[in-house]
Amino acid sequence: MSILTPTHLRCEYLENPPGIDVREPRFSWWIECDDAGRKNVSQKAYQIVVTRGPRQNVWDSGKVRSDETTHIRYEGKPLESTECYDWKVRVWDEKDVSSAWSAPAHWGMGLLRRLEWKANWIGQTLDTPWSETASPPAPILRKVFTLDQEVKRAVIYVSALGVYELHLNGQRIGDHILAPEWTDYTKRVQYQAFDVTEVLQKGENAIGAMLAQGWYSGRIGLAFNQRGGGFRGVYGRLMRFIAQMHIELADGTKQVIATDPTWRYTDEGPIRGADLLDGETYDARREIPGWDRTGFDDSAWKIVHKCSGPTLVFQRNEPIRITRRLEPIALTEPRPGTWVFDLGQNMVGWVRMKLRGKAGTEVRFRFSEVLTEDGTLYRENLRIPPLTPEGAMQEDRYTCKGGGIEIFEPHFTYHGFRYVEVTGLPRRPALDDLTGCVFHSAAEEGGEWETSSDLLNRIMTAIQWTLRGNLHSTPTDCPQRDERLGWMGDIQVFSQTACFQLGMGAFFTKWLRDVRDAQTEDGRFPDFAPQPFDPNMRFSANAGWADAGVIVPWRVYVNYGDKRLIEENFEAGTRWIEFVLRHNPNLLWENHNGSTAFVYGDWLNGDTFVGLTGWPKTGGQVPMEIYATAFFAYSTQTLARMAGVLGKEAEAARYDVLARKIRKAFNAAFVSKTGKIKGDTQAGYALALNFDLLPAKLRAVAARHMVAALKPCKGSMSTGIQSTVRMMLELSRYGESEAAYRLINQTTMPSWGYMVENGGTTVWERWDGWVAGRGFQNPGMNSFNHYAIGAVGEWMWRVITGLNPDEAAPGWKHFFVRPIPGGGLSWARGEYHSIHGPIRVEWRIEKGEFKLDVTVPCNTTATVELPGKGGRAIRIGSGVHHFELAHKGTTNQ
Ligand code: BGC
Repeated sequence: MSILTPTHLRCEYLENPPGIDVREPRFSWWIECDDAGRKNVSQKAYQIVVTRGPRQNVWDSGKVRSDETTHIRYEGKPLESTECYDWKVRVWDEKDVSSAWSAPAHWGMGLLRRLEWKANWIGQTLDTPWSETASPPAPILRKVFTLDQEVKRAVIYVSALGVYELHLNGQRIGDHILAPEWTDYTKRVQYQAFDVTEVLQKGENAIGAMLAQGWYSGRIGLAFNQRGGGFRGVYGRLMRFIAQMHIELADGTKQVIATDPTWRYTDEGPIRGADLLDGETYDARREIPGWDRTGFDDSAWKIVHKCSGPTLVFQRNEPIRITRRLEPIALTEPRPGTWVFDLGQNMVGWVRMKLRGKAGTEVRFRFSEVLTEDGTLYRENLRIPPLTPEGAMQEDRYTCKGGGIEIFEPHFTYHGFRYVEVTGLPRRPALDDLTGCVFHSAAEEGGEWETSSDLLNRIMTAIQWTLRGNLHSTPTDCPQRDERLGWMGDIQVFSQTACFQLGMGAFFTKWLRDVRDAQTEDGRFPDFAPQPFDPNMRFSANAGWADAGVIVPWRVYVNYGDKRLIEENFEAGTRWIEFVLRHNPNLLWENHNGSTAFVYGDWLNGDTFVGLTGWPKTGGQVPMEIYATAFFAYSTQTLARMAGVLGKEAEAARYDVLARKIRKAFNAAFVSKTGKIKGDTQAGYALALNFDLLPAKLRAVAARHMVAALKPCKGSMSTGIQSTVRMMLELSRYGESEAAYRLINQTTMPSWGYMVENGGTTVWERWDGWVAGRGFQNPGMNSFNHYAIGAVGEWMWRVITGLNPDEAAPGWKHFFVRPIPGGGLSWARGEYHSIHGPIRVEWRIEKGEFKLDVTVPCNTTATVELPGKGGRAIRIGSGVHHFELAHKGTTNQ
C-alpha cells in the first residue's frame, strides 16, 4: 500500500511565519505519494488541527469533504496576539483512505491591535544635524534590562523608519537585510518578528540596534533636488526605531520589554554613512566593543527622543536575505594598485572581504556591471557625475583598525555589479579574499528549466538572475543606477515569468498593498509603487504601467488560486477603469492619462533604434491610442473576470459589456476588414491578438500580418517591452512557432542571444546596451540588469516546455502541457513548483520519436496536447506519465 503524506505546509504562503497579523490565516500543503507508480491520487477530505502551544486545542476542522489544499482559512477560536500556534493536517484519498498526519508546522501571531503596541518610537534628538546631500553616521541604540527567571519563550517585534540591524546579548538577531523594507511610510511600515528565546538569560540582558536611512530618509530613485542631484528625506528626516519583546518566564509570568525614553544612543559608531544608492563608509577604528552586551558603560551616550510613527503591519513577504555566495573567477590589476575582481556573474548584493592593513588604511570598493576596454570599471551608466551631480555612487569605504585580519561586510546598502574594484590595499589580495553575497527578497525557489541549446539555457539563466537582482522589497526596474523603483509596467509584463521561477504569492501580496497605497483618490494607479512623489504632478496613470494594478493580481490568482488577493484589489481596479473611462468616454483611450505628462507607450520599441548601424529603417512604435486602448480593453475584461471569481454578478456584467464595447470601438477605429491594424506594426498585432481584441474570423489573418511585419525589419523584432513576449506567444498560438524560434535563436541585435553572446549574464535594459564599434549606449539609460525584455521567459516556459496554467482552475489545480518543439532543440525539461506541488515536464526527440514525460502532482489534473497537427488532447491525473509519438522532420524515422 502506498502512503500519502501532506508536506510543504505553508501559512499565508510562508514557512512557519513568526508574526502573522491576519486574523484568519490560510493554510496550504502539498500531498506527496511514496509510490511513483501510483496514479490519479486525489484528495477527498482533509482535517486540520491547530493547537496553542503543543496541547491546547483551538481548532479541529473535523473531516472536511473538499479537494482543496490551498488557502484554507482558519476557522477556530479567535487567535491571540503574540501567541504561537502549531498546526498539522491529514488527508483522505479518493478511496477514503487517510494519510498519516503531516509533521507539525507552526506560526506566531503578531500584534493584532494598535493599542497592544506599548513600545514608543524612539530616535535621535531633534537637534541632530541634517543634510540633504550627505548620509549621516548610523546611530546605535541600546538598553539593559533584567529578567529574574529563566525564559520559557520570547518573541520580539521590531521595526524602524530607516533600516535596522537588531542585536541581543552580543548577537545579531535574524538574517534579514534592509528590514523593515520599503512601504509608503506615510501610511504604514512593516515590522518583523524574531523568536529570541535562546538568546535571553536570567539576569541582565542587553538589547541594541544600528540604524541607517534606507528608503525612509536616504536617497531613492528619481528624487532630485533643484541641482538635479540626490535628495534625501522624502518621507522624513530623522531615523526612528521601535521594538517590543514579549517574554514568558519559567513560572508563566509575562514580561514586556519595549523601547521607551530611557534608551540611549550614540552617533559615534563605525558606520560613518550608509546609503542604498551611494554605499557605506565604515571606520573600524571607531568600533565600540561590547556595545550590544551588558556591562558596557553607556553613560556618555545621549538619551533618545520619543516620537511617533505610522501604523505597523507584519511583513507579508519573505525577507531580503543572502541566498548565494559567489567566488571570484578572476583578479586583474589594470592599473598599479587597482585590483579588479570578476565575480563571473552580474549580481546584486554586496561583498565580504578579508583584508589586512595598518590602522587608518582606507580601502575603497567600487562596483560596476561591465568593464571598459582597458579593464577598468565602466560606471557611467550609474548616472554618476559628470552626467548628473550625484547618480548612484555604489562605493564602499573601509578604514582598517590594524592589528590582523579584518573582515569588511556592509550593513545598509546594496549594489548591482559583476566587477569589484578594490584600491588602497597595502599588498596584492588573494582571489578568495573576496566573496560576492547575493541577496534579494527570498521568495521560494523551485523553477528549473533546461534544453539541449546552450544559448537558450544561458538566456534563461540570465532571466533568473535578473529576477533575483530586482526583488528588493519591491519589483525594481534595475538594481544599479539611481532608480531602483517598483516600475509597474516592467513587472506587469514580467509577472508570469517571475511566477514560473519563484513562489511570488507572498511578495506580490506585500507589493500590491504598496500599489493600492499609491493609488490616487480619483482612481489613478501609479507608474511605480511605492510612489512617494506628488502623483498629481507626475508618475501615474500610464497605460501598461498603471494597468499592473489589475493585471498582476489576476496573474497571482491564476498561479496561486488566491481569491482573497482578488478581493483586496478588486475595488481599486474598478476605480482605475472608471478613471480611464471618465477621461475617454468614446472608449478609445486617447486622452492617455487624464493629467500627467509622461507617456511611455510600448517602451524601447524599434523607433528607439532607427539610425543605429545595422538597424532597419523602420521603427516599430504602435500608435499610442492603439496601444493604450488595447490595455483599456484587456484590463476591463480582466476586471470582469475578477468580478466573476468573486461572484459579483452585476459588476461582472458591467465590465464584460464595457470590455466588449471597447473592443468594438477598437476594431471600428483601428482594424480594417482585412485584419490590418493601423500602423501595421508588429506590436499592434501582438497586443490585439494577445488581448483577444479581434473578432474570431480576423485572428489568423492578423497573425499573418504580424509575421509579414517582421520582414521590413529583416525578420527581427521592432516590438517594445510591452509587446515582445506577447508577439512571441501569439506567433506560437497561431502556428508560427518557427518564426518565434528564429527570434529566440537569433544572436544578432536585436535579440536575447546577442546579449548573452556579448557577455550578458543578466538581461539588458535595451537591445543595444553595447555594440561593437560603437561601445556603450547613452549612459543615462543603459542598465545591464533589467528584466522587462526577459519576459520572454514566459514564452520559453509556455511553449518550449509547454507548461500553461488554466485560468478556469487556478493555482495549477488543472493545467495544460502543450510543448511545441522546434528551433533545432532535441530535448527540453522544466520543473515548476506549483502551489500544489512540483510539476515536471521532459521531452526528447529520439530516433524519429517524440517522447514526453509528465509528472502531475497529487490532487491535480492536466491536459496534455501532443505536438503536431491534430495532436490529441489527453486528460491525465496525478503520477508520472509517458507519451510517444512519431516525429516528422527527424531523420531516423
Ligand atoms: C525604467 C523602466 C521604466 C521606464 C518607464 C525607466 O527609467 O528603468 O524600466 O519602465 O523608465 O518608461
